[in-house]
Amino acid sequence: MAPNAAAPAPPAGSHAAPAEFPAFIAEQQPQGYQAGFRRLRDADLPPLPVLVAIEYSSLNYKDGLAVTGRGKIIRRSPMVLGIDLAGTVLESSDARFHRGDRVLGIGQGLSETDWGGYSRRQRLRPELLMPLPEAFTPRQAMGIGTAGFTAMLALMALEEAGLRPERGEPAREIAVTGAAGGVGSLAIALLAARGYRVAAFTGRPQLEAYLHRLGAARIVPRAELAGTPPPLASERWAGAVDNVGGATLANLLAATVAGGAVAACGLAGGADLPLSVYPFILRGVRLQGISSTHCGPEKRQAAWQRLAGEMPAKTLDAVSRVEPLSRIVPLSQAILDGQIQGRVILDVNA
Ligand SMILES: NC(=O)c1ccc[n+]([C@@H]2O[C@H](COP(=O)([O-])OP(=O)(O)OC[C@H]3O[C@@H](n4cnc5c(N)ncnc54)[C@H](OP(=O)(O)O)[C@@H]3O)[C@@H](O)[C@H]2O)c1
Repeated sequence: MAPNAAAPAPPAGSHAAPAEFPAFIAEQQPQGYQAGFRRLRDADLPPLPVLVAIEYSSLNYKDGLAVTGRGKIIRRSPMVLGIDLAGTVLESSDARFHRGDRVLGIGQGLSETDWGGYSRRQRLRPELLMPLPEAFTPRQAMGIGTAGFTAMLALMALEEAGLRPERGEPAREIAVTGAAGGVGSLAIALLAARGYRVAAFTGRPQLEAYLHRLGAARIVPRAELAGTPPPLASERWAGAVDNVGGATLANLLAATVAGGAVAACGLAGGADLPLSVYPFILRGVRLQGISSTHCGPEKRQAAWQRLAGEMPAKTLDAVSRVEPLSRIVPLSQAILDGQIQGRVILDVNA
């Protein structure tokens, strides 16, 4: 992707501290979980070294769980939600960051133990920030966000297990489940750009044209992977990126070719795994766990470097749309209902 222009340092006087700004905050109260907009001042932010003017955040499945209280995400209360953020450093007492630097924060405890990105301003630990890759604007980086980072980790895990695009005819397929969601859409785009033949499993056949545009060679109804998994099935997939879990993941493993690999990313369909050991002991299939949170700095950097080189800019724009943060509650309900297509970038200043 073309590098974006270097961010000029904000002139003195710009980004003047607003007296108050809105932030979306969850609190564990004796009467239950409460989440909503509150007005904060800079003095309310944690006393941490790097003050960031946030431009964009994003919506991930985990954000949906935190906003609605349907998942136990926050581990401190009160908590500013939002697991992703991109913006510009306003102040830093840490040598790694300076005023005017464009930065990115992805997961690593944001919205769990550290205040996150659903705010116009945030004070952060430097360990949670990295320089924004030159290839991306803050908005594009949030089009990727945790979902795209996870999709790249899944691709890297499959390749660490030995998978390569097949040149033979017909090339064996890589299955992607939860195809029209955030991780699924970006996994399809990344795999297809690298030359893999992708079979996209979706419960939304009306999105067939969208999935083909991302690069999927074949669209398959997700019901095909929903039944009771057999111990082993005919070998079909060279590999898979799974966002659904449960019977879907077990069915994928049962039909993965000898020596193939499956990257387990998500649980949109359930957290159980009704599995036999046969795929592992008879076919040497690998099940690769993907955690975007527990990922060391070297792997993190390698993944962003690959995203900068391999994420097609046009596809990224086609996959994402911008919404105002003020719509976070209905958007969170929609992502938990499996109704979000691709990625939602959140404009925290709207
Ligand atoms: N491991 C990690 O570090 C990590 C990081 C990010 C996300 N995740 C997990 O990955 C999953 C996807 O995240 P996301 O942000 O991409 O969410 P998302 O945008 O909501 O995508 C999930 C997709 O799964 C499918 N789906 C939803 N409900 C389903 C059901 N009951 N049964 C079968 N399929 C269903 C839908 O795709 P179709 O309509 O196309 O069927 C939906 O779009 C989530 O479980 C999330 O927690 C994990």
